[in-house]
Amino acid sequence: MSSDAKEAATNEYVTMTDHSTGKSYDLPVMNGTVGPKVVDVRPFYRDTGMFTYDPGFTSTGSCESSITYIDGEAGILMHRGYRIEDLCEHSDFMEVCYLLLNGELPDAATKKEFETTITYHSMLHEQLNNLYRGFRRDAHPMAIMVGVVGALSAFYHDSTDINDPEQRMIASHRLVAKMPTIAAWAYKYSIGQPFMYPRNDMSYAENFLQMMFSVPCEDYVVNSVLAAAMDKIFILHADHEQNASTSTVRLAGSSGANPFACIAAGISSLWGPSHGGANEAVLNMLGEIGSADKIPEYLEKAKDPQDNFRLMGFGHRVYKNYDPRAKVLQSHAHNVLDALGIRDEPLLKMAMELEKIALEDDYFVQRKLFPNVDFYSGIILRAMGFPVSMFTVLFALARTVGWIAQWKEMIEDPSQKIGRPRQLYTGEYDREYVPLDKR
Ligand code: ACO
Repeated sequence: MSSDAKEAATNEYVTMTDHSTGKSYDLPVMNGTVGPKVVDVRPFYRDTGMFTYDPGFTSTGSCESSITYIDGEAGILMHRGYRIEDLCEHSDFMEVCYLLLNGELPDAATKKEFETTITYHSMLHEQLNNLYRGFRRDAHPMAIMVGVVGALSAFYHDSTDINDPEQRMIASHRLVAKMPTIAAWAYKYSIGQPFMYPRNDMSYAENFLQMMFSVPCEDYVVNSVLAAAMDKIFILHADHEQNASTSTVRLAGSSGANPFACIAAGISSLWGPSHGGANEAVLNMLGEIGSADKIPEYLEKAKDPQDNFRLMGFGHRVYKNYDPRAKVLQSHAHNVLDALGIRDEPLLKMAMELEKIALEDDYFVQRKLFPNVDFYSGIILRAMGFPVSMFTVLFALARTVGWIAQWKEMIEDPSQKIGRPRQLYTGEYDREYVPLDKR
């Protein structure tokens, strides 16, 4: 048990009775700083010979963490104790990265030093160019990202020793720094334009926009409103406690795999439409709905248990209230569209109409299905000029710092063990082998 876990242990117990044997077991209860109490089932198998069953981990805490806290009922999200709304209003992405990785906000000199470190790690090994060229031009940029990030382990051997704290930190800096370059190059490759190199005189968000949208034959001036919006989008996606991709990173890392391989695993998990792929799916869905008069028809489809259509960008495993990130994004959607001189963007109007109708519908009210972060992010990103296929890539770029902070926390936890869930076996048992010619 780690020292934090010892502090979290209370003198409370939950008693469980096995009625078939009449035996009772006292399970210790642990308290976090806030949030639901946790029943410690670690001795459960040893004492009872039984496993607990929780597919989808709806009732299972898989680790201790002091990085991010979510109160899904109240719609609250905090990083290291700071509310997401405050971080969005007063901070910037580099500061949030430092906070997630180190636990505290930096002072001015430390912040500058951190920004310089990230800036000077943003170039990719030149030979990685060749790796890009091995992909088909029409490859999904997420496929390229999974491949290139996994390949970083082959290029940066000097930061793959997970037992060396300095190497862990260098790998963390490299991943945060190189992700914009990797993402922008995936896009440039798909449209056949030359790769643009990072520039050390630009901020993280500016540099990403520059690598995405500039070309060598002319000067590129970054729109400051768009750079600010990009930075906010990065902050809003930076971490979200033990979601599917973060848990994937932790599980991959629990075997001692190097951080680049673990982040590649996280990117793969994020890709799915139930997770980070939902922002792409929202735009596709709005395009499919086409016009506001079709909304009721699509809501009926979403409500029909026989139809596997779901309202993309709606619902969340943890939030049973408005996702606070969606609230911030909804207001930014208007700012960005105003800055770009886009009036009456039909998709935004349709999204707001869809949201209004869904939030008044009994089906969505009863199930507490609210818009999540993906509902508005796609509209902003599209207005900024990002193709739909890049939406999940941007999510992965921003989430990298959260994944790596969670990975580091896990490696540094003395109670860390390889992740190895058990199962309820329902297959055949001890069958007699029948030779091929007798089947
Ligand atoms: N549209 C229609 N019905 C929905 C939706 C939706 N988007 N989401 C959940 N429901 C319904 C389910 O059908 C189920 O109804 P039932 O009780 O009558 O069977 C009930 O609400 C509970 O849904 P579950 O699937 O059990 O909830 P779970 O916590 O497992 O799923 C998830 C959460 C995957 C996010 C789900 O809400 C969903 O598929 N949403 C759409 C995809 C999406 O937007 N994903 C992004 C999530 S946020 C992120 O990753 C950044």
